[in-house]
Amino acid sequence: MPLVGFGTWKLRNDPAHEAVLAALAAGYRHIDTATMYANEAEIGRALQDSGLDRAEVFITTKIRPSDAGRASSVLRQSLRALGTDYIDLWLVHWPPSQKGGSRQLWNELLELQAEGHVTDIGVSNYTLSEVDELIRSSGQAPAVNQIDWGPTRHDDRVLAGHAERGIAVEGYSSLKNTNLDDPVLAKIASAHGVTPGQVVLRWQLEHNVVVIPKSVRPERITANIDLFGFALSADEVASIDAMARS
Ligand SMILES: NC(=O)c1ccc[n+]([C@@H]2O[C@H](COP(=O)([O-])OP(=O)(O)OC[C@H]3O[C@@H](n4cnc5c(N)ncnc54)[C@H](OP(=O)(O)O)[C@@H]3O)[C@@H](O)[C@H]2O)c1
Repeated sequence: MPLVGFGTWKLRNDPAHEAVLAALAAGYRHIDTATMYANEAEIGRALQDSGLDRAEVFITTKIRPSDAGRASSVLRQSLRALGTDYIDLWLVHWPPSQKGGSRQLWNELLELQAEGHVTDIGVSNYTLSEVDELIRSSGQAPAVNQIDWGPTRHDDRVLAGHAERGIAVEGYSSLKNTNLDDPVLAKIASAHGVTPGQVVLRWQLEHNVVVIPKSVRPERITANIDLFGFALSADEVASIDAMARS
């Protein structure tokens, strides 16, 4: 999975098509969507218009827990809208609330993965104990847990818990939920000649957390993937980690 993906929540209709096309032109090869975002068709259109081969782009979509029991038809709809015959990563968008619901939906995903239209399956917004329930019931750990992550939410124990279970963490809303005017970020940004937003995203990468920033602005779309020309020192990482405790 490419470590930098393009987030598409709240992008709809033509702006979704334009933003995803701009992201693909800027070099993103990983797009994050969900049936709930109602933009899979626009993303499919952007993929087609980009001229890229399907195999060059990693596509994540998600199923709502309320679609338990009809996962097969939801998957078919996602495939049709995205204009593809496989999904790279299919996530349960958030844990079902009814008792046993999580296990039932996970089993549906496992069955559909076995049919070959989904490469990897995972979850989103699961706690580690919810993840453990899935592992206990099916013997199969999710490949990924996509969770709300950023400097103010940093918790080493949560990252270590995922690493121990072999689960990749994808962190969402790190830009939106961070005060990008924070002096800690401003100082590090100025030392590296980058923006505070880039510092936040690079900090996630230093922790092996996959990033999926969303933007409609071409200059931000470009900046948010320009993360490999600098690295943070251990002290800089620690000072950003400490924002969770301040
Ligand atoms: N699994 C889930 O439950 C879940 C929940 C939330 C999000 N997600 C996924 O994660 C993706 C990212 O999360 P998100 O969209 O909530 O938040 P985000 O990517 O952290 O932040 C997006 C916001 O930050 C602004 N922004 C983007 N780049 C910036 C930069 N370099 N400097 C300053 N501001 C910047 C954007 O405005 P402009 O567009 O005007 O640039 C937008 O308002 C979503 O799009 C979605 O794919 C998943």
